[in-house]
Amino acid sequence: MQELEVQHTDDGSATLFVPALDEHYHSVKGAYTEALHIYRDCAYLYAAEQHTVGERPLRLLEIGFGTGLNAVVTAMVATAQRSVHYIALEKYPVVPDLVRSLGYDKWVDAELFAAIHGAPWEQPTDITPHFTLEKRCCDLLGTAIPEEIDIVYFDAFAPEKQPEMWSAEVFARIYQGMRPGGVLTTYCAKGAIRRLLQATGFTVERLAGPIGGKREILRAVKA
Ligand SMILES: C[S@@+](CC[C@H](N)C(=O)[O-])C[C@H]1O[C@@H](n2cnc3c(N)ncnc32)[C@H](O)[C@@H]1O
Repeated sequence: MQELEVQHTDDGSATLFVPALDEHYHSVKGAYTEALHIYRDCAYLYAAEQHTVGERPLRLLEIGFGTGLNAVVTAMVATAQRSVHYIALEKYPVVPDLVRSLGYDKWVDAELFAAIHGAPWEQPTDITPHFTLEKRCCDLLGTAIPEEIDIVYFDAFAPEKQPEMWSAEVFARIYQGMRPGGVLTTYCAKGAIRRLLQATGFTVERLAGPIGGKREILRAVKA
């Protein structure tokens, strides 16, 4: 992957900057705040509320594992009532030294974060009794989407930077892999992306963004 730099966002948490793309891994308004609000709360906890206790684990797909921040904040709230099988796709794994230099140990459960990064790729690994992680090093564009997905964290780089990740074809494949009632969230609230998700078949709502961050985000639900 290209050269990466650690930078700090407005809530004090760090993110990675990709100079070649002029793009950050998280919102510059707050990396940690974004992970909690857009992904953990608006997707995982929202979907879990509608999940029947005692059913099979929720199957979650993350597009762009990156720093593992979304994964760890999800693992921290996974319980028996909402256990998760978390499948994360990543084309360019971040090297351990760079992960350490983000300083996320001060923000999240450091042991869990280490276990998430220490887990082998391509192999489901129980990180806690309620959180199984399957990191897949692959290119979303050339990979079959896993089946029976309940929740999608769609966290690709911005459409202006990586338009190929935000295509009708990609959303159709994701939709196909989701269960009815499945929930997808993304930080991108652009009209063109909302219309693309609607044309794919999702029911899409605009939600308030994180405090101090973007005005709106999108949540898409498969009927
Ligand atoms: C916005 S960042 C995601 C941040 C991440 N969710 C986190 O919590 O740190 C986008 C991620 O998508 C990854 N990526 C870019 N192109 C990809 C592709 N074609 N397939 C899979 N992952 C890709 C990048 O390497 C990067 O980690």
